[in-house]
Amino acid sequence: MLNLKEKIAFNHYYDEAPEDQIARIKRIKADFGSDLMMVAHHYQKDEIVAFADARGDSLKLAQIAAQNHTAKKIVFCGVHFMAETADILTTDQQQVVLPDPMAGCSMADMANPFQLTKAWQTITDRYGDSIIPVTYVNSSAAIKAFVGQKGGVAITSSNAKKIMTWALKQAKHLLFLPDQHLGRNISLDLGIKPEEIGLWHAQQDYLEADQPDKLRVILWNGYCSVHQQFSVDNVKRLRQKYPDVKIIVHPECAHEVTAAADFVGSTSALINYVDQAPTNTRIAIGTDNNLVGRLKAKYATKQVMFLNPYSCACILMNRIDLPHLAWTMDQLAAGKTGHVITVDPQTAYWAKKALDKMLQLSL
Ligand code: 13P
Ligand code: SF4
Repeated sequence: MLNLKEKIAFNHYYDEAPEDQIARIKRIKADFGSDLMMVAHHYQKDEIVAFADARGDSLKLAQIAAQNHTAKKIVFCGVHFMAETADILTTDQQQVVLPDPMAGCSMADMANPFQLTKAWQTITDRYGDSIIPVTYVNSSAAIKAFVGQKGGVAITSSNAKKIMTWALKQAKHLLFLPDQHLGRNISLDLGIKPEEIGLWHAQQDYLEADQPDKLRVILWNGYCSVHQQFSVDNVKRLRQKYPDVKIIVHPECAHEVTAAADFVGSTSALINYVDQAPTNTRIAIGTDNNLVGRLKAKYATKQVMFLNPYSCACILMNRIDLPHLAWTMDQLAAGKTGHVITVDPQTAYWAKKALDKMLQLSL
């Protein structure tokens, strides 16, 4: 974190001409050569994505981190849990730098180890050891470590179906956290009945279920504040206006929305859908605005639109901007570290178990 003097110095970055920052970032990046790699999640702003050596969804970014052993510095343009994952999967000689450490994820913050320990106690008291935990990668390293220690696994939205299928074969019951919507969408997709899905209220330590003995999957009550901005009403209005419209959404949207959509997929799958669609196809997308705006511009021969034109982009992803990136590159050029994200070895050891299992099962 910056002290007051450093904060005042940082504020000058907002007064500087963007062209100067762009030129400096390019020069410093070129000076570092293969010692520095810059990666960006698809939800990053255009001004950031423009510099990225690799762009991807959370699975791809985790795979890149696991495979690259040359870059000494990885400037990670994404959110905190993704940078933690990169730190866990890279070697001790590599440093992961997040341009703004305040770029978190509100969903990841909806589950902490204290709550999970209490939940696990209550749930295992009822179901014994015939349960394993499954965590969405959108969770802290500490949550992943808990899951790894209990023999569980991590998932992303692009491998969720495959890994949930595997997990359902390993144990009679699953605890899925922190995103209830992704968990519900995948479970229903895999044929789990609604009455076999319960909801764990983490703030009240309470399991909501009509028939607890029937449960196969217990969902944590977390959600994404970006994807909950899409509603069935948005879908209905667009279908009324444009009967030929294809509605495509991310699986973090509520089940009523995914059920009303034509296609549900991770950020990479949504991009692929637009790419493959014939010219003139009208496609409304329910995911982060930075990505939808970029697809609109790139595929000008297709009618790409926002599912909810009034929705906000992910404000946490948006914390990474040109001034933060320029500041980070200046720090690195001056031999300083920038905001290095480090997971302590004990947490990293167990979290890696859950992540390695995920990467292996994703092949
Ligand atoms: P992806 O796994 O599709 O990249 O999603 C990450 C995310 O944070 C979506 O909100
Ligand atoms: Fe987290 Fe949602 Fe932002 Fe993704 S879009 S980083 S889940 S708050």
